[in-house]
Amino acid sequence: MPTENIYPIFDRMLQREDREKLLNQRGVVLWFTGLSGSGKSTLAIALERELHNAGYVCRLLDGDNIRTGINNNLGFSEEDRKENIRRIAEVAKLFADSGIITIASFISPTNEVRKMAGEIIGENDFLEVFISTPLEVCEQRDVKGLYKKARAGIIKDFTGISAPFEAPENPFADIDTSKFTIEECITKLKDIIKDRISLK
Ligand code: ADX
Repeated sequence: MPTENIYPIFDRMLQREDREKLLNQRGVVLWFTGLSGSGKSTLAIALERELHNAGYVCRLLDGDNIRTGINNNLGFSEEDRKENIRRIAEVAKLFADSGIITIASFISPTNEVRKMAGEIIGENDFLEVFISTPLEVCEQRDVKGLYKKARAGIIKDFTGISAPFEAPENPFADIDTSKFTIEECITKLKDIIKDRISLK
């Protein structure tokens, strides 16, 4: 029997509510999804700083950082992207359960992987934020020079070019960084999430 000699201690551990009370905030995961170059990281960094300055404890999890650490054995096949998102969702869940406002910033390109993340994290704590900047704008910006390489066939399976990106059907928030300044986007975002991060 797999549970033989195993004695879970959940009932004796501090609960999430204890930590949320201490921090005077609610744990939640703001799940940013969007194309490479859409502005996910820029907005996530700015939002984390704003909330921090307003007294909230936050934690940003970002694609390129996680892929050099816990997920450094994963590539960009469909299977690897799924495993990438599965592990991140498990980590994000631990942070949210610690009462921390967790900002996850990953392309997370398909409805399937985002649904999985939502199921792992729990629908109540999973707020999908679609950074909907159009592909043409992302490609024009080409901050990392990756679109050029993808078009030239140097990078395979590149999201939006040679691998799919499915827009979320019913996101909690939708932000197009080609239409507004960073400051405007952050103001809008803060307003949308304010009731979800504060203790009632
Ligand atoms: S995800 O699809 O698995 O969610 P993730 O957000 O972790 O992707 O990583 C995306 C980042 O990896 C991009 O911002 C880009 O810098 C880099 N990258 C390298 N190769 C690819 C690729 N083939 N497709 C998309 N992004 C890539």
